[in-house]
Amino acid sequence: MAKAKKKTKKKALWSGRFSTGVDEAVQRFTQSVHFDWRLYLQDIRGSLAHARMLREIQVITAGELKAIETGLGQIKTQIEKGQFNWDPSLEDVHMNIEAALTKKTPAGAKLHTARSRNDQVATDMRLWVKETIVQLTEQTSGLQRALVDLGRKYENVCIPGYTHLQRAQPIYFAHHLLAYVEMLERDKSRLIDCGKRTDVLPLGSGALAGTTMPLNRKFVAKELGFAAISQNSLDAVSDRDFIVELTFVCSMIMVHLSRFAEDLILWSSAEFNFIRIGDSFTTGSSLMPQKKNPDVAELVRGKSGRVIGDVQSLLVLLKGLPMTYNRDLQEDKERLFDAVDTTQDALILSAGMVAETQVLEHCCCDAVKDPLLFATDVADYFVKKGVAFRHAHEIVGKAVALAEEKHLILDQLPLNEWKKVSSKADAKLYECFDLDKAMSQRIVVGAPGRKQVQQQLNRWEKKLG
Ligand code: ARG
Repeated sequence: MAKAKKKTKKKALWSGRFSTGVDEAVQRFTQSVHFDWRLYLQDIRGSLAHARMLREIQVITAGELKAIETGLGQIKTQIEKGQFNWDPSLEDVHMNIEAALTKKTPAGAKLHTARSRNDQVATDMRLWVKETIVQLTEQTSGLQRALVDLGRKYENVCIPGYTHLQRAQPIYFAHHLLAYVEMLERDKSRLIDCGKRTDVLPLGSGALAGTTMPLNRKFVAKELGFAAISQNSLDAVSDRDFIVELTFVCSMIMVHLSRFAEDLILWSSAEFNFIRIGDSFTTGSSLMPQKKNPDVAELVRGKSGRVIGDVQSLLVLLKGLPMTYNRDLQEDKERLFDAVDTTQDALILSAGMVAETQVLEHCCCDAVKDPLLFATDVADYFVKKGVAFRHAHEIVGKAVALAEEKHLILDQLPLNEWKKVSSKADAKLYECFDLDKAMSQRIVVGAPGRKQVQQQLNRWEKKLG
């Protein structure tokens, strides 16, 4: 248990109000620099833009601006070289950088003019989210490309498609992969959408109620590349919906990756034996020498849970907060960083794993030979002969039962037996069991037919470059 007794010697920085420093345990509890140091680039960019604007409105001199620019440049280099001394007693990234700057130049004490850490942190976070969206979009495209490449490599391979994890109908293996490409495309559009709402500058909102200084917010927005400036100072400093949104999009990506991971896990089991995941993405067992476990896929599936938890945490964090800024908001960062880090790793590793996956064509081919997969095609054959679908369904159902009774597989049921269930049956019925023929007939848009899948592969190759 932390002992809440010892007072720290240091008073809070730039604080006339307090006579002592905070309790040591309080300092440990409240400081955030061990995780928000990651915002240093955005914090420095924001400060540079703010300083340039202060010069523009003549609050600081050209010399002071120069000193601030030089100082912040040096701090950036120090941080990047690992030579910056992050001081937890200065609480967070903002105070650490400002204190270091003020040590370098007295102009540093002017940088916080008409600025609060409340609009500063909101700005830093929006910049960070915007940049992260670009990275996530690129990583999602990377996985899409890997899926399309694998689909193309095995473009002639068919597998059974499943519902209820029961064999249902034949599909191209590529069609299955392209389903995930579609999901990821929607995830990308969600990222872009979230980016639009994030693209609003909060700086200039002060602690909550703006400032009496004649700021030029449009100047800052332009410097930082924001499309718009916030229109309500209370909202700007206290809302974090853009963070919840990005974390949700991450959770959606993770759910898609988790479903895909589950497919890979099933497919690589002896029961399916459709694929072999490369050695660099599998691990052995400490006990059973024969084992090759799909741990990466399992962990992608497992880690989706924590990202879903991150969204939940953020929503609960926000739900009871009164206007405007409350320190609770500091808790947004670890959840966001965790969600983004986990999703980026999962995207990159999934793409790597797909690139190292081999499809066991002969096993797929054996599996897709199962005549029961063509039962619906036989029903369609009867429909084409004028039988109502419900009746056709019943006819084939009876034939399946009959075959089972006679210990025959469906395509071995003799014509005279078929005739017993329908007078419309003729020898052409057996063509329904021809895989190539069956696949050439699935021509509806979105279907897994040969032509359609080829068109889709071409479309994605063109789109993803
Ligand atoms: N570290 C704080 C956060 O992440 C920065 C803002 C602190 N503002 C304040 N008024 N104490 O939310």
